[in-house]
Amino acid sequence: MASSYDSIAALYDPWSRSVTEDVDFYVAEARKAGGPVVELGVGTGRIAVPTAQAGVRVIGIDSSERMLDVCRARAEEAGVGELVDLRPGDLRHPPVKERVTLVTCPFRALLHLESDEERLDALQSVHGLLLPGGRFVFDVFAPSRDDVLETHGRWLEREPGIWERADWDTDRRLLTLSVRGEAGETRMYLAWRSPEEWRHLLERAGLDVVACYGWFDLRPYDGGEDSVWIARRPTD
Ligand SMILES: C[S@@+](CC[C@H](N)C(=O)[O-])C[C@H]1O[C@@H](n2cnc3c(N)ncnc32)[C@H](O)[C@@H]1O
Repeated sequence: MASSYDSIAALYDPWSRSVTEDVDFYVAEARKAGGPVVELGVGTGRIAVPTAQAGVRVIGIDSSERMLDVCRARAEEAGVGELVDLRPGDLRHPPVKERVTLVTCPFRALLHLESDEERLDALQSVHGLLLPGGRFVFDVFAPSRDDVLETHGRWLEREPGIWERADWDTDRRLLTLSVRGEAGETRMYLAWRSPEEWRHLLERAGLDVVACYGWFDLRPYDGGEDSVWIARRPTD
């Protein structure tokens, strides 16, 4: 099935160019785990390629074939094609038989799931992928009222020639994000939930919360928009 990311695969890297704050954090987690790492929603390899450059093998899952094409080319260009194993698939049911010590889902990819049933499917799959004691690391956001008021319904130039428009449905807690540029355009949906709800979902999936940070510099979560999570499959 076509993904809303297929039509912006060529636009994704220039669009997300300024997003760099999370790379060292995820690479450090991968180094600690020793690898291989399963990255859910691997995209164009923004995190996966530097992870492979640090010597850690990555199994990358994504539902967008076009994003995976870009990732493959980027990994080859960086000389780490051998360390990046890309598999088309849904992050709720990842095509991975291996059991690993680290699963990641960077840059809010879990927000593409729209119901608790889907979220729980994904988190239970993560539990199944992890060896006992293995970690699940991800980040999500929930917008502030100010962010909603400032951006709602307006086209903003996020990068030169790349425009973004956020339409916030605060009753359904659903963001419709439109992106357009010369190399493509799309509309995608992101459903946000509160940190309390994420904590509850993790627990229902049998994962223990190790930490919830407010940013990638590991400051404690203090009620802001972003939350960065480390959960763990308990040892049996
Ligand atoms: C915001 S991008 C993140 C990409 C990359 N991890 C990064 O940090 O730049 C979200 C990615 O998740 C993928 N995605 C969305 N829903 C998915 C699903 N149900 N299963 C697998 N991949 C999915 C999209 O195709 C996209 O590549």
